[in-house]
Amino acid sequence: MIHTKRRPEATIAACADRHRLYQLSVQNPPAEVDFVDRTYRLLRGRSARTLREDFCGTAAVCCEWVRRRKRNRAWGVDLDVDVLEWGRQHNLGELDENQRSRIELVQADVCKVETPPPDILLAMNFSYWLLRDRQVIRGYFERVRDTMAPDGVFFLDAFGGYDAFRVLTEERRIQDPDGGAFTYAWEQAVYEPVTGRFVCHIHFRFDDGSEWNRAFSYDWRLWTLPEIRELLLEAGFSRVMVYWQGWDEDGNPDGVFVPVEAGEPDAGWIAYLTAEK
Ligand SMILES: C[S@@+](CC[C@H](N)C(=O)[O-])C[C@H]1O[C@@H](n2cnc3c(N)ncnc32)[C@H](O)[C@@H]1O
Repeated sequence: MIHTKRRPEATIAACADRHRLYQLSVQNPPAEVDFVDRTYRLLRGRSARTLREDFCGTAAVCCEWVRRRKRNRAWGVDLDVDVLEWGRQHNLGELDENQRSRIELVQADVCKVETPPPDILLAMNFSYWLLRDRQVIRGYFERVRDTMAPDGVFFLDAFGGYDAFRVLTEERRIQDPDGGAFTYAWEQAVYEPVTGRFVCHIHFRFDDGSEWNRAFSYDWRLWTLPEIRELLLEAGFSRVMVYWQGWDEDGNPDGVFVPVEAGEPDAGWIAYLTAEK
């Protein structure tokens, strides 16, 4: 008997690009740049020109920054040469030559890197939670403070709420602007109360039943807002503020972040912080 080998149909997962799916699922560079640009102006009374994006991954925020104004410059710092190369090809590749010339991608450890002093320094999407040790994260904050321009502002985000301390998986349906849709799944796989260790995964599921399990995995410490504020002040920042969002008419978060002295004990919240040099 002759066996004919059939070529297996390529699944959607097999053809998927995990960096593109990540950007569609968890990033919104225009909204992030709106917030940091406006907040810097409010705090410092002038527009920022230079921005450093730490843990930049695909450097999507750097690209948005240089698009905003002709004089804006950006540095993106990431350890991973492959993700930087993806960003260079896909995100920087969509810029014009002048915009591209105002971005520098640096493959380095954010705890050791040296760059010119930026007005704005960003560590977003909780990436600094990779620094699990108190001395190490404070050392990083000290370096950030020393690196920044004299009136520089450090922007971070944080999430929390009682669901943050639970093992769970949340799913969201994401529309692809190029057509179709997929499911983004956020799994909090481990939370360990003694050390605060927090292991999370991102999975993508597709309409043909295929999935990209653990497309991204993070071994973090779940830092709380009071700890982060204390560490930033210990690192020498002069003022640290927390920005909380309100609710729209349908009871959903409204995306408008305002400075607060007290938050709400929600199941899940996302906040921004600023730390002024
Ligand atoms: C979750 S991604 C963040 C992507 C993007 N900044 C965002 O807002 O979604 C975390 C990135 O941090 C990088 N990374 C981890 N440790 C680092 C370090 N010590 N220095 C520089 N980059 C690091 C990883 O390579 C990865 O690309």
